[in-house]
Amino acid sequence: MPRRRLRHGGITVLAALLLATSPGTAAAAAPGDGIGDPYFPTYGNTGYDVAHYDLRLGYTPRTDRLTGTATLVAEATEDLDSFSLDFLLDVDSVRVNGKAADAERSGEHKIVITPARPIAEGGRLTVVVKYADVPSTVQWGDGSLTGWNRTPDGAIALGQPEASWWWFPANDHPRDKATFDVAITVPEGTSAVSNGVLTGETTRAGRTTSTWRQDEPSATYLATLAIGGYETHEDETASGLPVYNAYSDGLGSLAGPAKASIERGEEIIGFQEESFGPYPYNAVGGVVAGPAADLGFALETQTRPVYSHAFFARGSNTYVVAHELAHQWWGDHVSVAGWQDIWINEGFATYAEWMWSEEEGEGTAQELADYTYHLYPEDDGFWKVAPGDPGPENVFHPAVYDRGALAVHALRQEIGDDAFTELLTTWQEEHAHGNASVAEFTALSEKISGRDLGDLYDAWLYTPGRPALDTAAASAV
Ligand code: ARG
Ligand code: ZN
Repeated sequence: MPRRRLRHGGITVLAALLLATSPGTAAAAAPGDGIGDPYFPTYGNTGYDVAHYDLRLGYTPRTDRLTGTATLVAEATEDLDSFSLDFLLDVDSVRVNGKAADAERSGEHKIVITPARPIAEGGRLTVVVKYADVPSTVQWGDGSLTGWNRTPDGAIALGQPEASWWWFPANDHPRDKATFDVAITVPEGTSAVSNGVLTGETTRAGRTTSTWRQDEPSATYLATLAIGGYETHEDETASGLPVYNAYSDGLGSLAGPAKASIERGEEIIGFQEESFGPYPYNAVGGVVAGPAADLGFALETQTRPVYSHAFFARGSNTYVVAHELAHQWWGDHVSVAGWQDIWINEGFATYAEWMWSEEEGEGTAQELADYTYHLYPEDDGFWKVAPGDPGPENVFHPAVYDRGALAVHALRQEIGDDAFTELLTTWQEEHAHGNASVAEFTALSEKISGRDLGDLYDAWLYTPGRPALDTAAASAV
């Protein structure tokens, strides 16, 4: 059993603080307040904007010990006496712009950093955090939440809406996107996969370092790290993008169906480009975790979604691949402004499965809408959750996915295919590598279609209860 070390918000004075004398003055926005997400008010931080994360990590599967040097290249967006980062692991030292800085733990998942000198608004902020810990022993909240999934041969860093806390310090909110370099050193013979392009692999003294570069902006929860025994497939798409797929050695007989699904990614992306616009990144791929990771879900980690083995238990499953690849546009390229906007991610990723089904000749979008509408009886609790504002406890409720996709279908029926495709591609262009809200989406849809869609959105996104059939989407069966 792992050592339980629940963190309760008591202030831990770190080593760096012992060397300093100044107590630090109050910051403009109280560090630890969060970036202002209505669902997760403590997530993310104010006062700065990260442009780039450089992570140099070392990991030993046998002990689950992770060591790191994280360098954040950021800019102050207000005058700063101090600022906070989201992070749960033990920190050894922090430097800001070259000088030792005070660091203390605050709240449940923050460290508050007080630089030797205040930083003026617009000033550069280079933050170097050195750390070492055993992530699987670090639990949060009631202990059920972790972004670190340890396996006998490694670990997978993965989670939503929070994941980075267990492996790198961050401004952990999708509103602050940044580019990433990840250098990960593991015992020779172990694989280590992250996002973007593999730029190098070198082995010295029995340890192998892989360097991964994600040079399009990424939300912090979309960064991942998968370490362990993997069979890796490197390839190139017809348009020259590097493909990097990794299959856990633990898949056994599921390796076949997993490959039969993941290796169709390029074809699925080609199909999705017709509706969503050009694929937004310069690398593609996927990671299939083994049973030991016990993930139970898939996640759209940028350029390299991670899939639970369980999706392939009954043969190939290209629907989950279509879902996670659709998220590369819906969630990754255009990210939520706040977590209350989750419908834009999950509604469209689920609808993308229906579109792919139609393309595959396995059931039209209309047939799947009809099926889904009638799947849940009118008095089913499913209909109580309004996907347009599901509440923080329901961001991954089936209603956000299935009713969310029904909402997309209702919209498509109402405005027609041409306006629908124009809306989707315009949305991607207007918010490229940025963030946007449901309100911005509904406004754009009305602008492009020239229709008042208020009743449609009220019925499908905001009103608890099963919408009537005459609000489109499904036909009676
Ligand atoms: N965005 C993911 C998907 O639907 C959901 C992952 C939710 N699960 C979790 N444990 N955070 O593809
Ligand atoms: Zn999803």
